[in-house]
Amino acid sequence: MAYEKQVVVITGCSRGGIGHSLALEFASRDCLVVATARSLTSISDLQTDPRFFLQELDVCSDESVRHALSTVLEKLGRIDIVVNNAGMQCVGPIAEVPLIAIEKTFNTNVYGSLRLIQGVVPHMASRKKGKIVNVGSVSALAPLPWAGTYTASKAAIHALTDTLRLELRPLGIDVMNVVPGAVKSNIGNSALATYNSMPEWKLYKHFAEAIHARATYSQSAKSTPSEEFARKTVDAVLKKNPPAWLSLGHQSTIMAILYHMPIFIRDFLLRKRFNC
Ligand SMILES: NC(=O)c1ccc[n+]([C@@H]2O[C@H](COP(=O)([O-])OP(=O)(O)OC[C@H]3O[C@@H](n4cnc5c(N)ncnc54)[C@H](OP(=O)(O)O)[C@@H]3O)[C@@H](O)[C@H]2O)c1
Repeated sequence: MAYEKQVVVITGCSRGGIGHSLALEFASRDCLVVATARSLTSISDLQTDPRFFLQELDVCSDESVRHALSTVLEKLGRIDIVVNNAGMQCVGPIAEVPLIAIEKTFNTNVYGSLRLIQGVVPHMASRKKGKIVNVGSVSALAPLPWAGTYTASKAAIHALTDTLRLELRPLGIDVMNVVPGAVKSNIGNSALATYNSMPEWKLYKHFAEAIHARATYSQSAKSTPSEEFARKTVDAVLKKNPPAWLSLGHQSTIMAILYHMPIFIRDFLLRKRFNC
C-alpha cells in the first residue's frame, strides 16, 4: 500500500527543473513522492499519477511550510526523506545588487531550507530515522564574478549541511549535500526574469553584457540532462548509508580543481576568463 513506501518530500518540483526530474526518479524507485511547488499548475502533469501526492509549498512562508508538512503527516503518516531543492539565482555585482534581492535569495535558498529542516526534524527524531538532502552548488567551490549573492547563499547551505550532519546523527537522521554542476533546467530563464528587474548598473556599465550572460551560464549544450543528474542522485540518496557529499554534472570536476588551487592562481585564471 502507498503508505508503506518511503515518503519523499521535494521542494521546487516545477516542470523542466531538477526537482521535477528527482520527483520522477524517486517515483520510479517505488517511493511515494510529495511533489511540491509554489503553484500546483507547474506540476499539473503529475496530478493523476498515484505515485505522487501534490502539495503547494512556498519555502519563503512559515505558514506554507507548516501547513504542507502537517498535511503530509496527517495524510501519509510519516516523512522519510526531505529534499531541499527549491532555489533561485541572483545575478549582479555585489556592490550594486539591491539588498532586497539579496534578502530574497537568502530567504529562498538558505532560510527556505532551514524552515523545512526545523519543521521536519522533530518528526524524524521521534522515529530516530530520516534523511535530509540539501541542494548546494559547485559555484560555492570557486565563486565566479556576477553571481556572488547566489554563491554565498549556497556556501551557507554547504556549511549548514556539514554542521547538521554532525548534530542530527545522534537523532538518527542522515544529512547529505548534493552539489550540482551545470544541469539543464529553468534556472537560466528564471534568472533572466529576475535580472530584468535589477536597476541599471552604475560602476559596472562596462560589464553589463558579461553580467547578463552570467544568468544563463549554467545552461549550455553541454549541461547535464536533469534526468541523468536525478538518476545518480537518487541512487546515492537511497543507499543505506548515503554519502555526505555528492557532486556531479558538467563542470563539477573543474570547479573542484579550482577549489583546491592556491587563491592567487585561481583569481588569475578567473580574471582572465571573465575579464575583470
Ligand atoms: N541547474 C543548475 O545548473 C544548478 C547548478 C547548481 C545548483 N542548482 C540548484 O538546484 C536546485 C534546483 O534548481 P534548478 O536548476 O532545477 O532551477 P529551476 O528549474 O529554476 O527550479 C527551481 C525551483 O525552485 C522553485 N522555487 C523558487 N522559489 C521558491 C519558493 N519560494 N518556494 C518554493 N519553490 C521555489 C521554483 O519554482 P517556480 O517554478 O515557481 O519558480 C522551481 O520549481 C536549486 O537549488 C539550484 O540552486 C542548479
